[in-house]
Amino acid sequence: MSVEQVPVQRADFDQVMVPNYAPAAFIPVRGQGSRVWDQAGRELIDFSGGIAVNVLGHAHPALVGALTEQANKLWHVSNVFTNEPALRLAKKLVDATFAERVFFCNSGAEANEAAFKLARRVAHDLYGTEKYEIVAALNSFHGRTLFTVSVGGQPKYSDGFGPKITGITHVPYNDLEALKAAVSDKTCAVVLEPIQGEGGVLPAELEYLQGARKLCDEHNALLVFDEVQSGMGRSGHLFAYMHYGVTPDILSSAKSIGGGFPMAAMLTTEKLAKHLAVGVHGTTYGGNPLACSVGEAVIDVINTPEVLAGVTAKHELFKARLEKIGQQYGVFSEVRGMGLLIGAVLTDAWKGKAKDFFNAAEQENLMILQAGPDVVRFAPSLVIEDADIIEGLDRFERAVAKLTKA
Ligand SMILES: Cc1ncc(COP(=O)(O)O)c(C=O)c1O
Repeated sequence: MSVEQVPVQRADFDQVMVPNYAPAAFIPVRGQGSRVWDQAGRELIDFSGGIAVNVLGHAHPALVGALTEQANKLWHVSNVFTNEPALRLAKKLVDATFAERVFFCNSGAEANEAAFKLARRVAHDLYGTEKYEIVAALNSFHGRTLFTVSVGGQPKYSDGFGPKITGITHVPYNDLEALKAAVSDKTCAVVLEPIQGEGGVLPAELEYLQGARKLCDEHNALLVFDEVQSGMGRSGHLFAYMHYGVTPDILSSAKSIGGGFPMAAMLTTEKLAKHLAVGVHGTTYGGNPLACSVGEAVIDVINTPEVLAGVTAKHELFKARLEKIGQQYGVFSEVRGMGLLIGAVLTDAWKGKAKDFFNAAEQENLMILQAGPDVVRFAPSLVIEDADIIEGLDRFERAVAKLTKA
């Protein structure tokens, strides 16, 4: 029996959806690799990757295979029971990282919520009620729950909802002196994105992360890395912390970890994990067999020297061409980022106009992203074909040429 499919259009969005998003005018209906087709059969190249999620593009055979195989076996059992895909994926994550324990959940916000609650719980258990403060970075983004918008350093996301979670201090990113001044013995955690994603694709400086690690150790605080956007191969390393050689106590992963299937994980050590004893935290869907079977396929494909080296090589392809476009049309002051998380920073003349680039690219059949109003962001599949990169950048150049002429 098939489900009846009534015809729908973009205009229906405004009639039936909460208006918290403003999606593009077209509706994608199918994807293959780094190409997407809309309702009208128009073909687009995808440099947006579902905001750094579709790590293996669309309809990758390994993910489709894992999902359909699991769909015929077992979808969901809840955490009253464990399941094989969850245990296998947790083992793979433990083998591949600093972590000894894994908590599965469903989104980046939830992984961070778990991370922040764990940090506060550890401090509460070991040092008492006074040690609960969190130091985070201005311009950071950690999700949309009340705790995660409170830790996130962008008031536009946290203002207007009544009282915030207290005890959170925000300091300028990459400013070690400011961090030193903010961390005290009352700090339970320092929370950082190794590469600020939403905040403008801004990688941390090595000395900054090293300094943060040292400060945490000196003050019995935990170092939490939010790798929701930077993790799972996007930086050219399985996690960006591996590039820096600075190991956190807690790490949150989401987005790419499910390759497009909603899932997330909080990784930590055995010593810390034991503070989340039975009943202390949980979620119905976390570690769902469908999600974890896809997650297993993702890590199997991603965590190979070929794919990770490919990410670094593809970064160079993007960077060189974007710098050329930036110079020729006077639109970019800098092209930054790591691996396939790339930000082209707009020059003063174009500041605030990232959305115009998004729209112009769409007109040329190319999907890109912004990271705030001043940065054009690219977060394509990690296995995007070089030919698609070149063709997509040709389309991008046409978009920039038209935009700058207009
Ligand atoms: C660094 C970072 N943390 C957390 C989140 C929130 O993830 P989610 O939207 O899956 O809750 C995001 C999403 O953009 C992110 O980039």
